Amino acid sequence: MTEATAHDVPEMKVRPTVKIQVWDPLIRVFHWGLVAAFATAWLSADELQTVHEFAGYTVAGLVAFRLIWGLVGSRYARFTQFLKGPGATLAYLGDMTRGRERRYLGHNPAGAAMIVALLVTLAGTAFTGWLMEDETRVALLPSMPAIVAPAWADDDGDGREYGERGEVEGPLKEVHETLANLLLLLAALHVGGVVLASFRHHENLARAMVTGDKRAPGPGDIA
Ligand code: HEM
Ligand code: HEM
Repeated sequence: MTEATAHDVPEMKVRPTVKIQVWDPLIRVFHWGLVAAFATAWLSADELQTVHEFAGYTVAGLVAFRLIWGLVGSRYARFTQFLKGPGATLAYLGDMTRGRERRYLGHNPAGAAMIVALLVTLAGTAFTGWLMEDETRVALLPSMPAIVAPAWADDDGDGREYGERGEVEGPLKEVHETLANLLLLLAALHVGGVVLASFRHHENLARAMVTGDKRAPGPGDIA
């Protein structure tokens, strides 16, 4: 028995999937470089300080690049293409709970909000890490509001204290670690969102972040 071909069964005359490039090469290098640097910063924390700092500064450099690329980069890299206000983001989340959110070729509004949260928290983590390194850096900060200042007060006023083994302690370290922990939560939600959207729209979004290509928009999709 011969197998049916597209000539025999009209329904099988499906058009070959047309792919278009959505993520430019720099976005992809940025993304996977960020994942690697973030993982390295986490794994080396409190173990290999030189590696930790190098990874942390790499994260900071990548975030700085992304801010510039969001202004001058390719179509789907630009903030104006994907950033939406709270109303549109909440409406999208509402559609998600009803299982009828539309497919976006670029970032969807919920993913876009998560990107902002990730970039801000990554920058804050790297910045507090940098501040901890040298007491003169804290002095560069504008004076803190009275409500915050007492919590930062310590012997030398740099927001950093030292434990018995000489390790860094104090409120600045608390903030650094809290931001780093928050990042783990955000990254988990981010990956959860990627998996969910991949199932909903029958496409492998993680692979698209590797190849750059996505299925061309169909009826009802937002390009
Ligand atoms: C292995 C785990 C991860 C996978 C599979 C993954 C996958 C993805 C995918 C598919 C996108 C595009 C989302 C879309 O289609 O709208 C994306 C975007 C993004 N992800 Fe991840 N991600 C991972 C981990 C992380 C981590 C750990 C971070 C940061 C701590 C991160 C930060 C970002 C950022 C900032 C973007 C925006 C990309 C851009 O437009 O520049 N991701 N990720
Ligand atoms: C996004 C990037 C970063 C992440 C995710 C991160 C994460 C962490 C985490 C989880 C800890 C806690 C380790 C512990 O259990 O004690 C830590 C500690 C620390 N980090 Fe970072 N960090 C980052 C960037 C930086 C940078 C850029 C610097 C400085 C240049 C830095 C300097 C430090 C220092 C001095 C400590 C305290 C180490 C000690 O306990 O003696 N970090 N970081």
